[in-house]
Amino acid sequence: MSTISEAALLLQQGRLVAFPTETVYGLGADATNREAVKRIFAVKKRPFTHPLIVHLADRSQVSDYAREIPLEFEQLANQFWPGPLTIILKKQPQVLDEVSGGLDTIGLRIPRHPIAKALLQEFGGAIAAPSANLFTHVSPTTAKGVSDELGDAVDMILDGGQCEVGLESTIVDLSNNDPRILRPGMITYEEIAECLTRKVSRFVTEKNIVAPGMHNIHYAPITRTELLARKELLERIRLQSNKIAIITHDINKIDDEISLTHFALENDPHHYAHNLYLALREADQLGVDCIYIEAVPDDIKWDAIRDRIQKASGKSINE
Ligand code: TXA
Ligand code: MG
Repeated sequence: MSTISEAALLLQQGRLVAFPTETVYGLGADATNREAVKRIFAVKKRPFTHPLIVHLADRSQVSDYAREIPLEFEQLANQFWPGPLTIILKKQPQVLDEVSGGLDTIGLRIPRHPIAKALLQEFGGAIAAPSANLFTHVSPTTAKGVSDELGDAVDMILDGGQCEVGLESTIVDLSNNDPRILRPGMITYEEIAECLTRKVSRFVTEKNIVAPGMHNIHYAPITRTELLARKELLERIRLQSNKIAIITHDINKIDDEISLTHFALENDPHHYAHNLYLALREADQLGVDCIYIEAVPDDIKWDAIRDRIQKASGKSINE
């Protein structure tokens, strides 16, 4: 039996399969099997109030899960699916409460990763899958990252190498008349607004959190992590006596005298996003006292990255 058939069979039996998508690895279960979906929450130690994204192979399945499909949905799906975009719509009544977190809506996504696509096709149904990490930890972008996080608790891990995008999907809420970005991703606010040819609400502030998972400390390493402007970062390094790791985008070389681990990521948002979580996970495993991250440019293309590094360091979105 091929690995994909084996994985699809496990899903049919109510087991959990971790699989690569173009964004991050997902921890998948049959979206219509209550016990299997409940196991996702148990394995991740995630509160039941946090809804799961439902992954589909094909657009024809959307109406099985969503009950109102606005024109904006067609526009976004035409342009960005399959791909790193999750769309929130009003749900069909049969969607499990465990999947929707008790909300009247559902998040849907057709991924474009060949392994995710093959698995969805072979399985035939919808796969509910959050990122394959423990609750509040950094999402894994490699199969090793998944096994480091979840170990034997997952029945199978499909290895698709390092995820291309590296950050979780952009989430757009179309469940009411005011399209809103609930989570920035590498498909930018500008691209969404352009596609819809209308105004889109860009940021969710701490005061009007609508989706659980949008609180401050999320996607966080265990090691203390601080976000610093370049100048402050260099100053801190100079005065530092502890063991540290730094993650930068615009500093190639630090004075050799200083002992630190330097993740010099590229000064380009797509390359940076691709490697950020890998750097964060590696930095977290070094046993350093602190991780310093260099603040990134104030440009829309860096929105998703800024959001994740602010959360990794426990800073609020508007700081
Ligand atoms: O890229 C991704 O989106 C990855 C891959 C595996 O597809 N998945 C992912 O899932 O990041 P998760 O569960 O880690 O994050 C999903 C976020 C959560 O913050 C959740 O609260 C929000 O999406 N969400 C899901 N359904 C929602 C809904 N109906 N309304 C509002 N927010 C929702
Ligand atoms: Mg997650």
